[in-house]
Amino acid sequence: GHEHKVRSYDGKLVPPFEEKGYREMRDLQLRDDDILLCGYPKTGTHWTWEVVSMIVRKEGEISKVGKKSTFLELGLGKLMDGIPSPRVLSSHMWFDYLPKQISDKKTKLILTVRNPKDTAVSYHNHHVALKALQLYDGPFKNWFQLYMDGQVEYGTFFDYYKDWDNVIKSKPDLSILVVNYEDLKEDLPREIRKIADFLQISLDDQLVEDIAKAAGFEGMKKAYLDLKNFIFKTFFRKGDVGDWKNWFTVAQSERVDEAMKALQGTRFQNLRYTL
Ligand code: A3P
Repeated sequence: GHEHKVRSYDGKLVPPFEEKGYREMRDLQLRDDDILLCGYPKTGTHWTWEVVSMIVRKEGEISKVGKKSTFLELGLGKLMDGIPSPRVLSSHMWFDYLPKQISDKKTKLILTVRNPKDTAVSYHNHHVALKALQLYDGPFKNWFQLYMDGQVEYGTFFDYYKDWDNVIKSKPDLSILVVNYEDLKEDLPREIRKIADFLQISLDDQLVEDIAKAAGFEGMKKAYLDLKNFIFKTFFRKGDVGDWKNWFTVAQSERVDEAMKALQGTRFQNLRYTL
């Protein structure tokens, strides 16, 4: 069949990075002002990372380093010490694998989420575009099956957000903001203000406008291509809501609607997956 290269860490499917990153992130020394951005792959993590990074820098300009510079899975070791505060760390891991100090340090967490259908399409295209890495190469039909069965990095979308909902419910002291991809698309300045309020950073109207402008799809795409890493091409494909309609069969769509029942009673129950 179509091979899909993943690795297993503690019984979970994760991308084939070295094991050390997964192991070391648990004991990462956090700073008081660290911010940790989480989310299932393809839910707009790069977009949100850049927005948050501009908010904390109070600068309407895309970073020169990109999200990769703080991605915990990479096991960056000592390099983490050189990142200026406040660091905007990032990871796709489940809460139980993230730095232990989150609770003590009351680290601010931002969790991105997107409707599960567009996420599936984006995830598929991500793998196809990364053909050179030989992670996965096959038609959407096969990908969809793997995605629904949790045979992809970080398992199923539904388990992932169910897990976060459990974390949010069982840890009321956690400081966490959920950011929806569809909301960013709907009104980016509004969402920038929401994130800044959560981080207790005040921004004037001009800066909100500048950040929204810099975080536009084309501008971000260009900035990341300037980083000259072919991998970044895949992170800026279409940037639309509802592209799933060009990929899904009715049966596939119904299968996701069914799987969404697992998120009933969670804060993710109203994802706009039928848009
Ligand atoms: P598509 O593949 O649907 O285009 P992640 O950063 O979590 O890997 O998510 C990637 C998805 O976010 C891609 O979706 C990408 O196009 C979209 N994206 C990235 N930057 C964006 C932006 N500035 N505006 C809208 N969508 C963006």
